[in-house]
Amino acid sequence: MFAPGRIWNDLNGQPIQAHGGGILYEQGKYYWFGENKNGPTLPQGGRVDVIGVSCYSSSDLLHWQDEGIVLPAVQDNPDHDLAPTKIVERPKVIYNRETQSYVMWMHIDTADYTYARAGVAVSATPTGPYRYVESVTPCNTDCRDLTVFQDDDGAAYLIFASEYNRNITIAQLSDDYLTIKDVFTKQFSYPRRHEGREAPAMFKHAGKYYLITSGCTGWAANAAECAVASSPFGPWQVVGNPCTGPQAEYTFNAQGTFVLPLPGQQNAFIFLADRWNPRDLSDSRYVWLPLQVKAGIPEIPWHETWDLTIFHDPDPHKE
Ligand code: DGJ
Repeated sequence: MFAPGRIWNDLNGQPIQAHGGGILYEQGKYYWFGENKNGPTLPQGGRVDVIGVSCYSSSDLLHWQDEGIVLPAVQDNPDHDLAPTKIVERPKVIYNRETQSYVMWMHIDTADYTYARAGVAVSATPTGPYRYVESVTPCNTDCRDLTVFQDDDGAAYLIFASEYNRNITIAQLSDDYLTIKDVFTKQFSYPRRHEGREAPAMFKHAGKYYLITSGCTGWAANAAECAVASSPFGPWQVVGNPCTGPQAEYTFNAQGTFVLPLPGQQNAFIFLADRWNPRDLSDSRYVWLPLQVKAGIPEIPWHETWDLTIFHDPDPHKE
């Protein structure tokens, strides 16, 4: 059973370290990538020195094998993007069929969040090791929380909070997914710094694109918001908070990071979120909940525990 918010151990009995993560599905296996925060949180809170990006594998989404740190921190060069003193957040991996390589995008920053870049790494196998390529300021703008989305036709997009989170920028990746094409849009245009949106997660259902974001309140939870569009480039129309049930106004005391479509199923998704603990970030918990689109609007109901049979229940509203 999924038990949102409870400690989740891997097959070695260790708490899973894959925060701000995302999932890649490839040939019957799921690969969960995320921030390894298995170190001391600094006394002022809100920071663990960079350890690296973890990977876990599973065939049922419940039992996870630790595949190790597939992109480790770089210890011997304080200027490196992956130095322990930097920020490496929200890694996401997609597979490029043309180049047969796994491409990871992540938010790279300095500890004060002013460097604000997108980093990219590549590997021949899902479990790495990943070779760090570079970081960029995509579309000539700052880049903080990010995600990637791969469309059915192989086109892939980097979706990121830009201009101090005042906009969400959606940019198409190059055919090899390693660079960013000069094809992009800025959406939402919030009036003031930090009053915008972050933590983007995109998915597609019945020809429509959905983008779930959070507000900007640091590690504290706030309400999620969903927007819908007919193209990743918009225009995006806000349709409201997809969460229902206790603490729905606070995304169940968590912040979204990814939406996983269940392979081979219609209208069956898992919403992945992080319940951050800024005083002990290593003990931040995972909140995974079922997501279904009902009458064109995504719905994420709270469950203390649940499993994938939830998607088999007859539901007259199912699309
Ligand atoms: C919210 C972001 O979504 C997280 O990834 C992290 O950057 C925190 N802010 C830091 O306060």
